[in-house]
Amino acid sequence: MNRTTHDSETLANRQQILKREAHLRRFGYDSPAAIEFVLAQASPLEGSVLEIGTGKGRFLVGLARHSAAITTVDIAVEDQQCARLNARYAGVEEKIRFVVQDATRLPWPDRTFDAVVTMNAMHHILHFHQVLEEMLRVVKPGGKVVMADFSPRGFQILARAHRAEGKTHPHEHYDFRELQRSLRKRGLATWLRKGCNQEVLVARLPASPV
Ligand SMILES: C[S@@+](CC[C@H](N)C(=O)[O-])C[C@H]1O[C@@H](n2cnc3c(N)ncnc32)[C@H](O)[C@@H]1O
Repeated sequence: MNRTTHDSETLANRQQILKREAHLRRFGYDSPAAIEFVLAQASPLEGSVLEIGTGKGRFLVGLARHSAAITTVDIAVEDQQCARLNARYAGVEEKIRFVVQDATRLPWPDRTFDAVVTMNAMHHILHFHQVLEEMLRVVKPGGKVVMADFSPRGFQILARAHRAEGKTHPHEHYDFRELQRSLRKRGLATWLRKGCNQEVLVARLPASPV
């Protein structure tokens, strides 16, 4: 149990996150289980890790339990503010560097990170193929790229959950098998897994540069 005293903003943010998770659970999506599933496929995550698409920081907080040093980028300032509060609530804020940035142009030199990961952000990103090139550019030789998004069934659940609120959701669906084929052709070792309404593609770069 978390016994730290939190300010009202941190607690209100936590309540919002729990409310959202409860809504999704009613439609069949278990957010904590999905995060654990993705982390299990991505592990081990050693060294420096870059996350693309911070969002409200759900996956980020899970990541922080597996990695010592995380940098996370998001194009939206407000989302990163929520994520920071979420990380503060979980007591992992100190491990994380928050950067507001469009991931189509990352501000780091080639081969900076040991792993680059993203969960449930791909369908929000208009030019994901451009982002993927950046992910591959900034990861070190022998490093790992992890891409996770909702499975087709996960997207159906999400659509129902949003319809119940009178909303629609962006749904730019990327074909994970196609992504896997193109990464294999470029010499990466890949694993594709499905579970907990997620698809997860893990790719490891060769030890010498691609
Ligand atoms: C659903 S959220 C990510 C969820 C988060 N990873 C989690 O598991 O809690 C998607 C995020 O992608 C961000 N995003 C969209 N396009 C982006 C881009 N070009 N560069 C960086 N972030 C982007 C959005 O601002 C949004 O916060």
